[in-house]
Amino acid sequence: MPSTNNVLIFDTTLRDGEQSPGAAMNLDEKLKIAEMLEDLGVDIIEAGFPISSNGDFEAVFEISKRAKRSVICGLARAGFKDIDRAAEAIKPAKRGRIHTFISTSPVHMKHKLQMEPHQVLEAVIASVGRARNHVDDVEWSAEDATRTEFDFLCRCVEAAIKAGATTINIPDTVGYAIPSEYGALIKVLRDKVPGADKVVFSTHCHNDLGLAVANSLAGVMAGARQVECTINGIGERAGNAALEEIVMALKVRADIIPCDTGITTAQISRVSKTVSNVTGFPVQFNKAIVGKNAFAHESGIHQDGMLKHTQTYEIMTPESVGVSKTSLVLGKLSGRHAFRDKLEAMGYELGANALEEAFKRFKDLADKKKHVFDEDIAALVDEEIASGQDRIKFESLRVVSGTFGPQSAELELSIDGEKRLGIARGDGPIDAIFNAIKVLFPHEARLLIFEVHAVTEETEAQAGVTVRLGEEGKSVTGRGADTDTMVAAAKAYVHALNKLLVKRLKTAPEALTAARR
Ligand code: KIV
Ligand code: ZN
Repeated sequence: MPSTNNVLIFDTTLRDGEQSPGAAMNLDEKLKIAEMLEDLGVDIIEAGFPISSNGDFEAVFEISKRAKRSVICGLARAGFKDIDRAAEAIKPAKRGRIHTFISTSPVHMKHKLQMEPHQVLEAVIASVGRARNHVDDVEWSAEDATRTEFDFLCRCVEAAIKAGATTINIPDTVGYAIPSEYGALIKVLRDKVPGADKVVFSTHCHNDLGLAVANSLAGVMAGARQVECTINGIGERAGNAALEEIVMALKVRADIIPCDTGITTAQISRVSKTVSNVTGFPVQFNKAIVGKNAFAHESGIHQDGMLKHTQTYEIMTPESVGVSKTSLVLGKLSGRHAFRDKLEAMGYELGANALEEAFKRFKDLADKKKHVFDEDIAALVDEEIASGQDRIKFESLRVVSGTFGPQSAELELSIDGEKRLGIARGDGPIDAIFNAIKVLFPHEARLLIFEVHAVTEETEAQAGVTVRLGEEGKSVTGRGADTDTMVAAAKAYVHALNKLLVKRLKTAPEALTAARR
C-alpha cells in the first residue's frame, strides 16, 4: 500500500454519468449537482467534456467559477484542440485539472483510432505535455487499459509520467476485468513502471459484468489512491462504479481496507435522489445503500432481530447515509418560515425568488394533499430547479377521458416565454396530451418509455411519471410529479422534450484518428 491511506473520490456523474443513454442535464441541473458534490466532500469533480458542445464547455466553466474546494476537471481527447478547450473551460477554477485520454488496446488502436502503437505513444507524450503547459494537475488515462497488451501499457504509462502526468488512470472501459486481475494490474504497474511512486494511480471501472465496485476496491487494495465513480452508478451502458457503494464499503470494512475518504456520508441519500430526479433514472428498489429497500426489513425473523438489536441485520445505520424515516412534515397551514426551515433541514438552499416560487407551489400542493411529506417537497423543489432554463414550460391542462370517447386534451404551454393553447384528440387521455404537445411544439421524437409510480405511499400520493423520448439515436428521460396523473404525464413529456433540445446541441465526438488530430 502507498504511504497515504486517503482515497481521493473523483466523481464523473456530470461527464461519464451524463453519457448514459437517456440522460441529459441542463446547466442549472449541472450547477446544482456540482454544488451538492462539493458539499458531499468529493475531491475531484469531472464537470464535462468541453469540446463536445458549447453547453458542456459552459457547464465546466461555470462550475469552475463557483467551486470552492473541489478540483474541477475537464476531459479531453489527445488532440491539442481538445486540450486547449478543456484548459479554457477550467481556467476560472481555484484548482483545475485536465484529464486527457487515448486508447491503448489493440482493438481500439486498430479499428477505432486507426493508429499504429508508435503513433499512440507519440500522442501520449504530446498530449500530456500540451496539458502540462496549461496546468500542473494533469491526469492521463489509457482507454481500454484492461484489454491492452501489458508491455505496451507500461510504456505508455511511463511516457505519460515522464511527460508530466500527475495521475494515471487505468480504465476498465468495457467492464471486462475481474477483481483479482484488476488488482494485480494496478499492483504490477505500480511496482514496475519507472516513476510510478511519483503519481497517484486511479481506478475507473465500468459495470458490464456487475463488477465495477469490486474491481475499484481491488484497485484500492493494490494501492490505487483515486477512485472514479458516479452517483447511483449511472454511466455508459451498465454504468460506472457507484460512489455510494465504494465509500460505504471503505467505511464499513475499514478493518480489511484501512482507507479513508473525505465524504460526508450522511449526504449520500440526498444527492442520490437529486441525481435520480434530474436524470429521470429511477434507483432500483434493491440497490445497495440508496435503494428504497436498502434498510427495509419485512420478514418476521428479521423484524424480530431488529427490534432486539439493530446490528442483527444492519451493517450500517440508515442515518449514516442520510436516510431518515419518512416524516410527516407540513400541511396547508404551514407558513413560509416553516417551509424554509424544512428546506434547509433537507439540505436545499434556495434564493429568494426560487424560494417564493417553491412556496407557492407547496401551497397549491397542500391544498390538494393533506399530508405533505419530505419526498413531495423534494419532487417539487427538484422540478423547480430543473425547469429554470427550460424553453418549454407547462402551464395548464384540461382532459376529457372515460369510457365514452373521444378522449381529448386542451393544453397550455409557454414556449420561449409565449403562452400557447393546443387541443388534440387521442387514443386515451395520455395520447391526447402528447398529441397536444406535438401540435404546440412539432417534433419527430418517439415515445420509448412511459411509467407511472407513486412519489409517496398513500392513495392521495402524487403520481411520478417518467417519459423517455428517442430521436436519431439519442434518447432523453423526463420526469413530472403531480397529484393528477395526467398533469404529471404532461410535465414529464415536456421535461423530456426540453432535455432533447439540450441534447440536440451536443455532438458525440468521434475517435481521434492520426489524420484528425
Ligand atoms: O471508460 C473510459 O475509458 C473513460 C475514459 C474517458 C476515462 O471514460
Ligand atoms: Zn468511462
